[in-house]
Amino acid sequence: MGISSAESITSVLQETRTFPPPAEFTAAAHINSEAQYQDLWERAKDDPNGFWGEMAAGLHWFKKWDKVLDGKMPDAKWFVGGRTNVSYNCLDRHLTTWRKNKAAIIWEGEPGDTRVLTYQDLHREVCKFANVLKKLGIKTGDRVTLYMPMIPELAIAMLACTRIGAPHSIIFGGFSADAVAERNNDAQAKLVVTADGGWRRGKEIELKNSVDASLEKSPTVENVVVVRRTGSPIVMEPGRDYWWHDLMHEASADCDAAELDSEHPLFILYTSGSTGKPKGVLHTTAGYLLGTMLTSKWVFDLKDEDTYWCTADIGWVTGHSYIIYGPLANGATTLMYEGAPNWPHDGRFWEIIEKYKVNIFYTAPTAIRAFVKWGDEWPNKFDLTSLRLLGTVGEPINPEAWMWYHHVIGGGRCPIVDTWWQTETGAIMISPLPGVTTTKPGSCTKPLPGVVPDIVTKSGESLPANAGGLLVMTQPWPSMLRTLYGDHERYVRTYFSEIAGCYFAGDGARRDADGYYWIMGRVDDVLNVAGHRLSTMEIESALVSHPRVAEAAVVGFPHDLKGEGICCFVTLTGSDGDDQMKQELKDHVRKQIGALATPDMIRFSNALPKTRSGKIMRRLLRDIAAGREKTGDTTTLEDYTVLATLRASEE
Ligand code: WTA
Repeated sequence: MGISSAESITSVLQETRTFPPPAEFTAAAHINSEAQYQDLWERAKDDPNGFWGEMAAGLHWFKKWDKVLDGKMPDAKWFVGGRTNVSYNCLDRHLTTWRKNKAAIIWEGEPGDTRVLTYQDLHREVCKFANVLKKLGIKTGDRVTLYMPMIPELAIAMLACTRIGAPHSIIFGGFSADAVAERNNDAQAKLVVTADGGWRRGKEIELKNSVDASLEKSPTVENVVVVRRTGSPIVMEPGRDYWWHDLMHEASADCDAAELDSEHPLFILYTSGSTGKPKGVLHTTAGYLLGTMLTSKWVFDLKDEDTYWCTADIGWVTGHSYIIYGPLANGATTLMYEGAPNWPHDGRFWEIIEKYKVNIFYTAPTAIRAFVKWGDEWPNKFDLTSLRLLGTVGEPINPEAWMWYHHVIGGGRCPIVDTWWQTETGAIMISPLPGVTTTKPGSCTKPLPGVVPDIVTKSGESLPANAGGLLVMTQPWPSMLRTLYGDHERYVRTYFSEIAGCYFAGDGARRDADGYYWIMGRVDDVLNVAGHRLSTMEIESALVSHPRVAEAAVVGFPHDLKGEGICCFVTLTGSDGDDQMKQELKDHVRKQIGALATPDMIRFSNALPKTRSGKIMRRLLRDIAAGREKTGDTTTLEDYTVLATLRASEE
């Protein structure tokens, strides 16, 4: 990881506004005083076994654990010897209560079609699909790829996998066939569940066609189950492909939840790293479930009467943890929307909030910046007074976007929880507690109970208040990842080798004099584009796979809407590049990885700035991409003329 420049991160953000929680919010909140928070936090820090043991009593266990925590990072194990099941905790245990007929999922399709599944409905469908999986030969431990639109069948498939202990690997619908094949192969997936297509901004995303193309390169997949969503014509290969509705029609609704070990693999989710192929982050059963259940309750202050909406796609970790597992484990009503925020008009989200009287709304800063741009007239057209709590995740939120969110969406009355966490952490780590924490726009505030972070130099020394450094975790927590699928050595190297004894996953941050954390972004070569992590290295490999590209370096640059844009410096073989070539390269990357990785800028240059040892000096490229006239230290640069040429290589 390239953390060499992180020794001295200078923070330029000076924010002094503060927002205490409204008294009426505090009065009704699950955690409602600073003293209560302090007490929980201290107890969790000093006696993790006692604290987490007590918390875990809130789960259903087939067999109670023998030991709360065994070992230390990187190989800490939680609730050792215990047996439980995620789908049982999310479904069965609500069926013996009044929640049986409560809405578990309220779903709205992009074209405006709707479905509501009660806990009983969801349980029945999950049991049936679990039986379908078994009939297709899926056994405990087999990996199942879910490459689906945001439809209820995705939630059903996830919970069915957890019911029989088959780890799922969800692939975001925006990824290309090649990306699907790569992930299928890495996970050695046996089955793919998909749909003919899904709706996005009025257009169809052709999922089944991509699956067909991916299967030419992923031989471990034996069968494909296809949900009919759009009704478009697709090819069904006899003996390999089955319609969801045909299989479900014959399936029994009786399926006991498997009694799984606490550490049984729950799911794999691929995320970008700074080097090499995507990393298969593996989460296990009990610890992940406990983390998402507790944080949903604490951070979103979930109550039975709430309609809760997280706008993420389930293809990302936010959707896993905070559309499905956390809310359902709490018996909450979770809203799921299939499509785009600006279809058929720029006020679609606000229309949905008004329609379902949404109380808690969780979205991303990149979306908020787009809403600001689309204009206040859209939210102002709808009644948003049902909202009582707002949240954000995915990247640092700029204070002005925070203020807009607070005033225009929250009507000045809703606390905002700016939640910091990662695919690897499984659950929210640093966040306000809405009934307790006085918020400061742009800060994710303080660590939750059980989370013990620090800000350190790259040699691991703790830094004083307001000094920028590396954000690390000094103690294990139950919902942390356990390995990178199939590559434990890479897991240890990536997260635990930079700072001895600590977990480090790439963010720079500072802590102010009040103990509030301010995330400053990634310090490795990972971009955060519209809240999604993309590896510069993967985009570079995609570029270099084009026959005309000799060398490529990819860096991020500040982008109004996306937070970070993708800028590619490319050296071609043969003749000079032109606009047509730029377009061709953009299309090429899009085909290789998916639309989310489409470059914003391609700049041609006959050489890239390198050190004498041949390393590309990305920090200089970042300056150039951002349009900064003066670049940092160039003394190690091999050829000075390169910089002038690069500056002239405008987009
Ligand atoms: C960034 C998403 C600032 C951060 C849950 C982290 C944030 C990466 C915040 C993880 C936040 C996430 N403030 N930055 N509230 N939340 N990030 O794995 O750089 O897709 O390392 O998980 O997003 O992205 P991931």
